[in-house]
Amino acid sequence: MEQLVTALRAIGEPTRLRILSLLARGELTVSELVNVLGQSQPRVSRHIKLLASAGIIERLPEGTWVFYRLADHGRGQKIAQSVIALLSDDDRVMARDLERLDAVKHARTNAANAYFAEVAKDWAQIRSLHLSEGSVETALCEAARGRQFKSMLDIGTGTGRMLEVFGNQTERALGIDLSHEMLNLARLNLEKAGLSHCSVRHSDLYNLPFEDGRFDLICIHQVLHYLDEPRTALSEAVRVSAPGGLIAIVDFAPHQLEFLREQHAHRRLGFTDTEMEYWMREAGLNNVTHLALRPDIQDAEANHLTVKIWTGERMSTETDLKPTPELTPEHTS
Ligand SMILES: C[S@@+](CC[C@H](N)C(=O)[O-])C[C@H]1O[C@@H](n2cnc3c(N)ncnc32)[C@H](O)[C@@H]1O
Repeated sequence: MEQLVTALRAIGEPTRLRILSLLARGELTVSELVNVLGQSQPRVSRHIKLLASAGIIERLPEGTWVFYRLADHGRGQKIAQSVIALLSDDDRVMARDLERLDAVKHARTNAANAYFAEVAKDWAQIRSLHLSEGSVETALCEAARGRQFKSMLDIGTGTGRMLEVFGNQTERALGIDLSHEMLNLARLNLEKAGLSHCSVRHSDLYNLPFEDGRFDLICIHQVLHYLDEPRTALSEAVRVSAPGGLIAIVDFAPHQLEFLREQHAHRRLGFTDTEMEYWMREAGLNNVTHLALRPDIQDAEANHLTVKIWTGERMSTETDLKPTPELTPEHTS
């Protein structure tokens, strides 16, 4: 009872209700909340602190940024979801907040798109700065265990490298990306490699233009750390994966290279296994595996990072659809 009263007290204030309504749309930093709410940073921080100590929201420090998101387990989650269900988008103040939130997200997406348009021609060189590409690709192929696939989707395909890597293991393959500049290069690369069964198209990974269960291999290679909502992106990918299909995610382990945010449009500084595996199981994957590829000693000076490969298989039968046992994400970096 005491806990419940504390939680309800924490929520029962107009700005804190607005914060709840905003975080219901995805995780945000304090400065993004300050921007949308139009209040000073100390005030917003005070509201956030109250919500966090009542277990309604979670604080996720990562490098010099701190992300906030709604609690996704326990009593805090139940309370947050019940109150959010009572909020109305028609409320004038909340409707204005949502407009501002859209503007903040657009500005960020535009900045990332501008980055990808600018770096497209040098992408092959940039991607090798932080990855030891050969070993990642070998490990990725091993993770696919020499399987032959009918239909592959490469999400955030960039210059189409993953289509080239898996081209010979799949009957048909498709890459999607938001950047026209990247897609133009991908088309050239596929043509050069003679991969006529592989193609690319312009599409947003949050809203894939495909029916459920279409692809038996899905790759998400070095894409999630750019996104506002990696968890939503993952669940959209799982939606279009075929029962029994394989999803391979390649991204960085948690790191501290803050300059990647300023100079290379990264949003997240890597992901923990706990967080990623929780999202994967929650989205409907099982047989989840993870592998870490650590940089060679001599590469350390070149800012190479530990690369993670996570794989999972889409649950194939109704009986696989058991609720995940008491799993909670720990979001430490
Ligand atoms: C770092 S690149 C990775 C490209 C490729 N997977 C690779 O490893 O070389 C990330 C790609 O994700 C794309 N991207 C970012 N947000 C996207 C979105 N919402 N929908 C589709 N593609 C997106 C970018 O345009 C960019 O080409």
